[in-house]
Amino acid sequence: MKNDLNGAGIANGLTNYGDAEFSKYLRRSFAQSMGYSSEMLDRPIVGIANTVSGFNSCHRHFPDMLEAVKRGVLAAGGLPVDFPTISLGEVYLSPTSLLFRNLMAMDTEEMILGNPMDAVVLLGGCDKTVPAQIMGAVSADIPAVQVVAGPMSTGNFRGERLGACSDCRRFWGNYRSGEVSGDDIKQIESRLATTSGTCAVMGTASTMACIAETLGLMLPNTAAIPAVHAERLRASEDSGKLAVNLIGTQTTFQKLITPESIENALTALLAIGGSTNAVIHLAAIAKRAGHNLSLGQLNKISETTPVLVDLKPSGQHYMEDFYEAGGMSAVLQELAPYLHLNCPTITGETLGDRIARERQIYINHKVVRKSEDPVSNVGGLVALFGTLAPAGAIIKRSAANPDLFEICGRAVVFSSLEDLAARIDDPDLDVLPSDILVLQNAGPKSASGMPEAGCFPIPAKLAKAGVKDIVRLSDARMSGTAFGTVVLHVSPEAAIGGPLALVENGDQISISVQNRTLDLFVEEDELAKRLENWKAKSKEGLVPKRGYRKLYHDHVQQAENGCDFDFC
Ligand code: FES
Repeated sequence: MKNDLNGAGIANGLTNYGDAEFSKYLRRSFAQSMGYSSEMLDRPIVGIANTVSGFNSCHRHFPDMLEAVKRGVLAAGGLPVDFPTISLGEVYLSPTSLLFRNLMAMDTEEMILGNPMDAVVLLGGCDKTVPAQIMGAVSADIPAVQVVAGPMSTGNFRGERLGACSDCRRFWGNYRSGEVSGDDIKQIESRLATTSGTCAVMGTASTMACIAETLGLMLPNTAAIPAVHAERLRASEDSGKLAVNLIGTQTTFQKLITPESIENALTALLAIGGSTNAVIHLAAIAKRAGHNLSLGQLNKISETTPVLVDLKPSGQHYMEDFYEAGGMSAVLQELAPYLHLNCPTITGETLGDRIARERQIYINHKVVRKSEDPVSNVGGLVALFGTLAPAGAIIKRSAANPDLFEICGRAVVFSSLEDLAARIDDPDLDVLPSDILVLQNAGPKSASGMPEAGCFPIPAKLAKAGVKDIVRLSDARMSGTAFGTVVLHVSPEAAIGGPLALVENGDQISISVQNRTLDLFVEEDELAKRLENWKAKSKEGLVPKRGYRKLYHDHVQQAENGCDFDFC
């Protein structure tokens, strides 16, 4: 690794006043107003993208992490300068955080490019923040190091461990079915998220952290360090040092993201039983680097990749157990035969060098299983294709009920999230456990912006009768912490007239996870008639008239293309 500190520092990308020397003098003068000595301003600069926010509880320990990164930068001879970007707190944003991921990616990219920095450290964590930062840093193409928040620690209720957010959903389901009282759900509410950090299970945030590590974008074995662990601060300090050492090298995210490292990331995603959202984010990241991620490729890799990690929502354990069990170092040891080992990483080692160096690490095989004794012989996610989803749909089979994998059922249709909310608990709803619940108009171009609503509740009358799962199908997404037999990301979506828009109550739909198919059994001439009607009705649809939401609506792509903007 080169360490010539060849950055342009404070003189990088001068403000244009028509006189470069004046611009430099003026900038140094204003920088000195912050108390920097002239000597400090001669150092190369490491920008630190700080996403602390009162609207992001997962990032509330970032002030400590920021100090640690700064310490590392100073120790290695750089000048650390933090700057704010948009922060996306998953549960605070309406209608959904995905709507703002591309805004954050653009913010991150432009602030990296617009400000004088020679390298950047990205402090992210909550679901959409890490993909947004990676997308922005890929496009900015300067040396960068990803640092993540790390997962929350678990809480406790009457001797039972609680972790956001799989247990949030489990207890809420039990409350809806009357198994948990109103008083108890209040107590549980205050014990689900008890520390800073990202959700305590293999949700989207932890999945994206593990993927960033597999892509080689962050320090080895740092994805799973708990948020409150001292090791998290040491990793932050080391990341600051690393960023200084990368200045003057060609080690950028753009260079590290290759067709091979993307395949490695897909393999890791499947082995950890990761979130369905990661398929969207990885497609967007791949495209930013000039590559493609196809759902066919996902299916191929899913056939041969074992699920190794026994974590909620698919399994039993929590992220803190995963860290103690060896974290991503343990997973990569077991996965080595399935990976492209020649992929470079941010430290200068190849992935293969790293795995060889870590050969002696301790692994708790109750949490990270041996590849010859996996949780499952095949990957956790598969894509389905057919007349209902010509461009694909996703199911997380590792979090679904295998009894519902091969079914043909009657459609019970909800035309929007509002319709769903109004009717799902109606005692008169005509629904049976063998039906397929269909939610329309919850995709990327819909007014709802593709929320994590795909794992919508089981109708109250079925839940009270003891039904624990039912097939749900939509163009929405699902939280990485959710579980159930849920078909997501149906593409093309209903809002642009995909076949999903044409489904009516009583239609027959067949799903075969084994054959990777999702079909709607309606005659072609009937579908053509419905499409004509849909076209007439769709003109009345709500299309944003101005601002970012118009930009988003006009340019967001479908799920299989990562929901990035077509111009990015
Ligand atoms: Fe931030 Fe789950 S809400 S990671």
